[in-house]
Amino acid sequence: MSEEDEIHLGLIGTGNIGRTHLAALFSLKKSNLTNFHLSAVCDLDSESAKKAAKDFDIPTTYEDYNELMSNDEIDVVYVCTPTSKHTDIVKAAAKAGKAIYCEEPLAHSCPQAQTLMAVAQDAKVPSAAGFLLRYDSFILYAKSLLEKHDFGKPMLAHVRTDHMYTEEYEKLNEWRGKSQITGGGTLVEHCVHDIDILTWFFGPVAEVYAKVGFFSDRGVEDLATLMMTHKDGQMSTLDSVWHSIDRPDERRIELFYEQGFIGITLESGNRFLEYHLKGEGPVRINAETADALLLEHLGVHTNNGSLETYGVLIDSVDNRYAALSYAFLGAIKSGENPSPNFMDAVAAHKIVDAAYESATKGTAIDIL
Ligand SMILES: NC(=O)c1ccc[n+]([C@@H]2O[C@H](COP(=O)([O-])OP(=O)(O)OC[C@H]3O[C@@H](n4cnc5c(N)ncnc54)[C@H](O)[C@@H]3O)[C@@H](O)[C@H]2O)c1
Repeated sequence: MSEEDEIHLGLIGTGNIGRTHLAALFSLKKSNLTNFHLSAVCDLDSESAKKAAKDFDIPTTYEDYNELMSNDEIDVVYVCTPTSKHTDIVKAAAKAGKAIYCEEPLAHSCPQAQTLMAVAQDAKVPSAAGFLLRYDSFILYAKSLLEKHDFGKPMLAHVRTDHMYTEEYEKLNEWRGKSQITGGGTLVEHCVHDIDILTWFFGPVAEVYAKVGFFSDRGVEDLATLMMTHKDGQMSTLDSVWHSIDRPDERRIELFYEQGFIGITLESGNRFLEYHLKGEGPVRINAETADALLLEHLGVHTNNGSLETYGVLIDSVDNRYAALSYAFLGAIKSGENPSPNFMDAVAAHKIVDAAYESATKGTAIDIL
């Protein structure tokens, strides 16, 4: 596909995350930052598909994803259905020769994720995984700090993430309590994202020790705690909890290197990054500075534009979805491999599987 060719995009699953992507894509399209057509949506629930089509000005709706795959005009599909449906839909998309974006968790297990990676590779179609945090401006800022300054060797990382899971949320998202649909609880649904970030910063994991807890009667774990040793001896810990306390979700990431510290607070209204290099004072980075870096990373030049043009990438709660799609569609146009992709998903799922095994056996599990 050349830079001039316009992408025709179809999205499957117009629920919670599907609509979030559609809102971001719709704003991206309006901004004219990149050219593409929002051509079709599909959902088993035809009312949901029709509502999405109306809200986001999309001409075609389907109930059966196979019909969307038969539409030769569509060259990119977004898979936003519950996790248990990803395998069949990704396989059908690869068979139809379409580029694929699939939500995370990609699958229930690493072997399933490996199958999907092989299917996409065999069909020679680009594949992108929904690791949204890789397009968070503060996380990208932390990456840039490591390139600019000498932080020394990584020593210890800690991630704590908490998510409010109310009875109302439970009613609206009933399938989230069914492991045959989700593959599990917070370990596979949420930790998969944090594990991807921890390995992005600290490198491959050699050993994992994990415990999970079941505090609600949902049937999937609402607590996961992992201790990981990375390849060169650096260590990370990850604590993830789903609770019913009325407080904003929060993700706190702390990275200790021999010569410096980076702390990032995300999700809650109070988002910021602090870093502290040995021999210097602490520095606090606000959203404006981090957003400028994100735009630079995406190759968006702000000289000639206004906030109206590029604001979609930075100026909303869901900016990460727009940034991720902007990068994904750009990769498709330029023929590059999207990042993050199914290979990254396989790496993260391998650690998730090892963590479940560790929690069951009560022992540490070697990975490498
Ligand atoms: N990346 C993230 O931060 C993030 C956040 C939330 C959810 N997710 C993931 O996104 C996926 C979807 O989650 P959600 O919260 O949007 O779920 P949801 O239940 O709100 O929406 C899923 C939609 O898919 C539709 N669907 C089911 N089977 C289908 C089929 N065979 N063909 C067409 N449509 C079908 C359903 O009718 C529903 O409208 C899950 O894998 C979830 O784990 C990722």
